[in-house]
Order: sequence, then C-alpha cells, then structure tokens
Amino acid sequence: MQTFVKGDAKWWQTATVYQIYPRSFMDGNGDGIGDLQGIISRLDYLQELGVDVIWLSPVYDSPNDDNGYDIRDYEAIMEEFGTMADFDVMLEELHKRGLKLVMDLVVNHTSDEHEWFVQSRSSKDNPYRDYYYWHPGKDGKEPTNWGSFFSGSAWEYDEKTAEYFLHLFSKKQPDLNWESPKVRQEVYKMMRFWLDKGVDGFRMDVINMISKVPGWPDGEKQPGQLYGDGTPFILNGPRIHEFLQEMNREVLARYDIMTVGEMPGATTDLAIQYTAPERKEVNMVFTFEHMDLDSAPGGKWNLKPLNLLDLKDNLTKWQTALHDKGWNSLYWNNHDQPRIVSRFGNDREHRVEAAKMLATCLHMMQGTPYIYQGEEIGMVNVQFTDLSDYRDIETLNMYRERLSQGYVHEDIMKSIYVKGRDNARTPMQWDDSENAGFTTGEPWIRVNPRYTEINAKQALADENSIFYHYQRLIALRKEMEIITFGEYRLLHRDHPAVFAYERVLGDEKLIVLCNFSSEPQELDDEELLAEMRQAEVLLENLERREASLSLRPYEAVVYYKK
Ligand code: NOJ
Repeated sequence: MQTFVKGDAKWWQTATVYQIYPRSFMDGNGDGIGDLQGIISRLDYLQELGVDVIWLSPVYDSPNDDNGYDIRDYEAIMEEFGTMADFDVMLEELHKRGLKLVMDLVVNHTSDEHEWFVQSRSSKDNPYRDYYYWHPGKDGKEPTNWGSFFSGSAWEYDEKTAEYFLHLFSKKQPDLNWESPKVRQEVYKMMRFWLDKGVDGFRMDVINMISKVPGWPDGEKQPGQLYGDGTPFILNGPRIHEFLQEMNREVLARYDIMTVGEMPGATTDLAIQYTAPERKEVNMVFTFEHMDLDSAPGGKWNLKPLNLLDLKDNLTKWQTALHDKGWNSLYWNNHDQPRIVSRFGNDREHRVEAAKMLATCLHMMQGTPYIYQGEEIGMVNVQFTDLSDYRDIETLNMYRERLSQGYVHEDIMKSIYVKGRDNARTPMQWDDSENAGFTTGEPWIRVNPRYTEINAKQALADENSIFYHYQRLIALRKEMEIITFGEYRLLHRDHPAVFAYERVLGDEKLIVLCNFSSEPQELDDEELLAEMRQAEVLLENLERREASLSLRPYEAVVYYKK
C-alpha cells in the first residue's frame, strides 16, 4: 500500500483552503452582487490570513436557479461576475501571491438552459438525447417515486417528447447521463480547458451521484412522506470508482493539482476507497456525517440538539479510519451549512471564545482544513422574519411543500433559522459602514444586522480577534509536522462537554482540550495534568496561568510536549 509519508507531504496536505462564495464576497461595481473584481480587491486580506488555496464556488455562466450550481456554459464567466479577462487577472494575482485556485466542478447536472439540454429535449433522435436521463412515465406517473433534494419529484415531464427527465436537484438542473462515453469525454475536455489555464484543482459537486443504479427502482417511502427515498440508487453507484479512475487517468493525473469530492452518504470505508493514493481517484472527500448529527429522522429540517458524544465519536471514527490509508478534509462551514458558531458554539456572550474553540478543535486534527468566508471573523446565523428576504431555492421550495403538508409557519421558520443555507450566504461583513462595506448598491440578499459589531475591519484591528487565532492555526500547520502526520487519540470519550484528544508523532505530543459548553468544566486525570505540566502552551483562547484541568466556558487550549 502506498501511504503518505512524513517529510514528504503533498502541498495540499499542509495547506489550508478558504472558500469564496462569489455572489456574497465583495461587490466591485456597485450592482449589489459580488464579483471577480471584488475578489481581486480582497486578495491582500486573504494573504494576511495566511491561507494557501482558494476554492471558488461556481463563476460560470448560469441562469442562477441555484446560484451558479446550474451551469449554462462551462467555459464562460457569469456576466454578473465579470469577464474571462477578469478571471485571468484574478488567477494571475492569486498566483503572484503564492495562492492556488480550486474551481467548483459541477458535472452531476447542468442547467436546463445548457446547449446540450436544449438539444436533448428537442427530439428523441437528437444526438444529445442520451446526454441526460429520459424515461417514459410508469402507469401515467413519474418513472420512480423519488423526491428531489429541493422538494417535489425528481422527475419532470417534458411535453415536447412526452417523456420525463431526471433532476436530483431543481427542475432546472437536469442530471447528466454519465453512462454515455460522449458525456464523460465532454467533461474531461472542459476540465482540461481550466487546468490548461493554470487552475490548481477541483472541488467536485455531489460527485458520488454520477453513477446511478440501473433499472430505476422505487425508493422506500416512510409514513407521512410525499416521496420515496432514491438515495440508495444514486449515491456511490455501481460505476462510481470506474468513472473517477477514468477521470483521473484522462485528466487529473496529468497535472499537479488537488481534488476534493463532495460526497453525501460516503462512509469511512468508501472514503478510503475514494482517497487511497494507490487507487487514483480523488485526494479527499467532504463527508456529511458530522453535519447530520443535529438532524432528527426525516432530514435536515427536522431539528435535534447536538449531543457532543455523537460529534466526538464521529470525528474520531474519521480520524482513525483514514489515518495512513486515505486523507480527510476538515470543515465546519460552507455555503450550504449554517454558521458553526451559532450551531455548535455560542453566538452571544461567548461568541469570540466559542469561534476560536471550534477552530482549534478542528484545525488540530489530521486532514486539510477548509475555512468558509466569514468564519474567520465569527459570522453568525441570521433570522429574517419576512420569508421574502430569503433567496435560497432549497429553503423556499421546502417552505411551500411543508406548508402544503400542514406544518405551521412558525415551525418552518424555526427550521430555516437553524438550518437554512442563506445563513451562510448573507454578504461578507467587511466593516461597519452601510451594507457592511460589501456593496455601494442594494445587496442581492440582506446583510446580517450584526455587521456593526462583527466585521473584518474590527477583527484586523484587534490582536485578540478570531481572525488572528485562525492565522496562528494556519501557520502552525505549516510549521509542525505533527499536525499533518501525528496519530490521533480521543481522550475522555464519555465527558459530556469536553472534547479532548491528543496527537502523537514519535516522541512529540499535542494535547487539545476544548470545552463545548457555557459552563466551567473539569477533567479528572492526574496523569494528563502531569504531562501538561511538562508541556508548553502552544495556543489558547483565554489566558492561562498554570496547567490545570479546569476549563472555562468555551475554553480551548493546546499543549505541546517533546
Ligand atoms: C451541492 C452544492 O454545494 C449545493 O450548493 C448545490 O445546491 C447542490 N450541490 C447542487 O449542485
């Protein structure tokens, strides 16, 4: 087996990635929508933070049914974001600063306005017909009972040819048929187009959905549910490894790049298969398991408080299973998830400590960490009381569907406040001026009203800010091999409020203690205390005077011992 070796780290193993959601990052021309010139104007800020790689959510031409995750033209830039010339300048400016660029690769589906789909739907014998999944109805209904991830059926009837097409997401996002070798070759060609421009990798959108189980079986339908569960037939399907290995052979292996596959429903066993270097598929995956721990059965909108033991067990499982076998990505946030400080921390009196504690807990683990814009300043969830202030298609469709099922408005809003994707999509808070310095125009989505208190300008001016805590974590990863390669061991598994673990590499050790509660906590462990007394404090979020097993609310401390 080929494993990763100390002293020979790949660049993406010591890197920290920063995700930009371009629509909400920085508006350069005052139209209320973030754009490429806006990004260029903030590169110094990212350099100051010290991140190595930018992952850019889609900037391709799109009618924006799902904010760019519905692509109309893979080789053109969305007009609202700028031009290809702007893109080239951005890439050059990034590279000049030693930063790398990872693009979003959205190839499970296209927009229904993509030329391939326009052709495909035009007639049954069009050469593009089999670029998508077309199927006649079954007993006058959809071919299967599957629900789409954005509410409603996963099939849409098309009058023109009297057949249904498959769309796992919105009906403006028809699924590409990866069984067709022509589709795969088109995708590979497009990937080479971007790699030849000099981009440094891809984040692959729902990439473990590209192989579907043949035969179109119905999914299990739970009582009270409108649709059957299609996920057993679309996640990690029968040809997924073959497709990824082909993509690797034909494209990825020819460049020095990084790849991360977004993979809902990937277990640790599957993740090892996807990321083991000798299998030549992708470098790492995004798991969803830790993001599902605060959901009750029936999906993300059914709320359940997090039990810290579940989180410890889950992250520990990923840390140990992939060690020496594959590679982890580490994340709390992205454009689909609520803000972590509101979710697993505290966004009121302990916001600053909680944000630093969460960062510490994640960044001291093994893997490649991802920071989502605004996380580094502790941005928080938003509660718009008026539904019309929400923009996200997933949220709006869910609202309508639940209302029709008899849910009451207040309960639906509660789910949106806790889980809605727009929590992550309000504009980046740059300063305390109007619209948080994001735009001089009318922002496409309202700014979080807490921008006067939480913004980058304030963070840069305060040496104890969350921003500088992240800066230190990013720098430590580059300085200390133990963070990249050390073995992970969970400590005090049964403590209900403290997440404690150590990392061990040769005779070096890191001890990480994190209090996930707003109460003081205590560990009972004389041996650990003795070790802490011989160690130095590497990082802390509250000032410590002496080694102690007492932790203040949301306190985090890292000891280093050799
Ligand atoms: C996952 C993306 O992260 C999400 O934003 C998008 O809506 C779906 N895939 C569909 O592309």
